[in-house]
Amino acid sequence: MQQISLALMGFGNVGQAFIRLITKKEMELKEKYGINFIVSGLSTGRHGSAINSAGVNLTRALELIKNGENLQTLSERQDSPTGENFIHACSADFLVESTPLNQYDGLPALNYIKTALHRGMHVVSANKGPVVFGFQELTQLAEDHGKQYFFESAVMDGAPIFSVFREALPLMEINGFEGILNSCTNYLLGLMETGLSFDEAVTKAQSIGITETDPSADIDGWDASIKLAAISTVLLGIPLTPQEVNREGIRSITPQKIQEAANEGKRWKLVCKAVRRGNQLTEASVKPVMVSSSSSLYNIDGTSSYVQFSSDVLPGLGITETDPGPETTAYGLLADILNILKRYPNE
Ligand SMILES: NC(=O)c1ccc[n+]([C@@H]2O[C@H](COP(=O)([O-])OP(=O)(O)OC[C@H]3O[C@@H](n4cnc5c(N)ncnc54)[C@H](OP(=O)(O)O)[C@@H]3O)[C@@H](O)[C@H]2O)c1
Repeated sequence: MQQISLALMGFGNVGQAFIRLITKKEMELKEKYGINFIVSGLSTGRHGSAINSAGVNLTRALELIKNGENLQTLSERQDSPTGENFIHACSADFLVESTPLNQYDGLPALNYIKTALHRGMHVVSANKGPVVFGFQELTQLAEDHGKQYFFESAVMDGAPIFSVFREALPLMEINGFEGILNSCTNYLLGLMETGLSFDEAVTKAQSIGITETDPSADIDGWDASIKLAAISTVLLGIPLTPQEVNREGIRSITPQKIQEAANEGKRWKLVCKAVRRGNQLTEASVKPVMVSSSSSLYNIDGTSSYVQFSSDVLPGLGITETDPGPETTAYGLLADILNILKRYPNE
């Protein structure tokens, strides 16, 4: 049995869903893959950390976090190192990073990942910030240390976007992509089609946890822009920041515009689009577009998302993800770990 130790940096929605997933899959992991995971550390922002080389008690950790308590009581140490000190103090084969996104510079997650790679850990991350602000540097750093940095769940949660091109589609040259990458705005536009005003739709989405208390990152197109930037940086090989995307959110979409679109048999969607010519992007935009029923984007409902790639060998390849949540993001992290372990069978 291969014993693999994991250190979790971030134990919020995604971190907790990840722990529930590896607990649920424990027997399958042992029987099919010969793998036994040990979580040697958990670290948070405001709830301290726990380090235990024999394995943190995960049932208790989930209970403590649910009750808003500190994780320190589960630690074998007297202190409760957080941030980079946690990564130095906690010995593990993998860092599983799921801390909040910083859309301006990717910090502090970017530094956590660098520290872990320097310490000889593989890194799997759900965070878009380090992808956009550090993809090339982190990939090089990982290679220098004989390790991997994977981030499948950073865009479209558990749906394979990055790995499908890495593993299954060699030599493909991607010329561009188009899609709906922000679930929240798609959900809001759908609610407005049922007759709600923009404000009523936002209030409803907030009440069921689909958008944040401050929904501007979604509504103003920032979340979609950073996802577009991540795909461009990694799959098109053209580094792009969210600030460089030609961005327009959905604030200008009124119930009247929704009705006018419906009268024409169309729907408003917040569409991300990137077009490449040679080594340059001729378009990198996020904006509301009226789409007709013949478009693949027309039937993407609720919190689902979709992206269609055009390439030199497959003119159109679409990937849809229906009803994502922290569980699907957690699956992306687990898939990354298993895909890395396939490359390092003797670890
Ligand atoms: N939710 C999703 O389905 C989803 C989907 C795709 C990608 N993602 C990405 O996954 C990441 C996590 O999302 P989430 O929904 O799990 O967020 P979350 O519920 O807010 O959890 C964030 C976790 O990070 C900890 N944290 C905060 N600041 C930190 C810091 N400076 N250093 C170390 N830890 C810190 C928090 O601790 P405290 O609570 O103690 O402050 C918490 O444990 C984000 O980057 C997000 O964009 C999420």
